[in-house]
Amino acid sequence: MSVKDQIDNHKIPRHVAVIMDGNGRWAKKRGFSRVFGHKNGVNAVRDTVEAAAELNIEALTLYAFSTENWNRPKAEVDTLMHLLVNSLKKELPVFQKNNIKLLTIGNIDKLPKKAKNELLDVIEKTKNNTHLNLTLALNYGAREEIINATKSISKKIVNNELNVEEIDENIINSHLYTFTLPGVDFLIRTSGERRISNFLLWQIAYAELYFTEVLWPDFNKENFYQAILDYQSRERRFGKTSEQIDDSKQ
Ligand code: IPE
Ligand code: IPE
Ligand code: MG
Repeated sequence: MSVKDQIDNHKIPRHVAVIMDGNGRWAKKRGFSRVFGHKNGVNAVRDTVEAAAELNIEALTLYAFSTENWNRPKAEVDTLMHLLVNSLKKELPVFQKNNIKLLTIGNIDKLPKKAKNELLDVIEKTKNNTHLNLTLALNYGAREEIINATKSISKKIVNNELNVEEIDENIINSHLYTFTLPGVDFLIRTSGERRISNFLLWQIAYAELYFTEVLWPDFNKENFYQAILDYQSRERRFGKTSEQIDDSKQ
């Protein structure tokens, strides 16, 4: 039985987030510059998006550029921005064909104009699509997101639009960049690194974590299915005991 056939369609995570890591090392291993790794990473993005759409996953969030990634050499940052523009242009027909809606999280005002405009164009053109919510995290930092949410909430309190006592999980959720998305069920990181690197800190509070040695440009549909299968083997207890979870199944 293929890996895909082993997947239980009734236990599909609603929201999968991916830290796409290892492009630089993939290229270095082959004697190329880091940029070559980024170019090849685009294929893995396509595979992952298609696999997620096939499995009827509701939301897929991809970490494409962090607030910390501006600290990389300028030539590398420029290439990443060019790749973003070109890939968005190329992928638009794929998004339309598969009914995929593009969203973004992060501060896109800091992106080069061309990248920001292309992004807004594809978001506009796909806004009525209903199958998969594909969110690109661009110039995204979870701490910055929490700072911004805190500022917006504080302003509402100062303006008497909100009472301090009313602040709860829902209020915080509704002030995050991800306000339209369900919480993250499953977080995948490639390349063997076992860290979060300032990604979705609030949203992954109860996510299952999955780390694979595969470098991002090599990551394909089979790897994605394998990860989903691993997710399905886990017992999500949310603070309860294993026995309580078993009882509720009966
Ligand atoms: C991930 O690959 C892509 C981005 C962060 C944009 P890296 O470029 O971080 O690859 P490694 O970690 O150096 O191998
Ligand atoms: C995280 O990867 C950011 C993205 C995948 C876009 P990094 O490669 O930048 O993370 P660190 O700095 O090694 O933790
Ligand atoms: Mg990296």
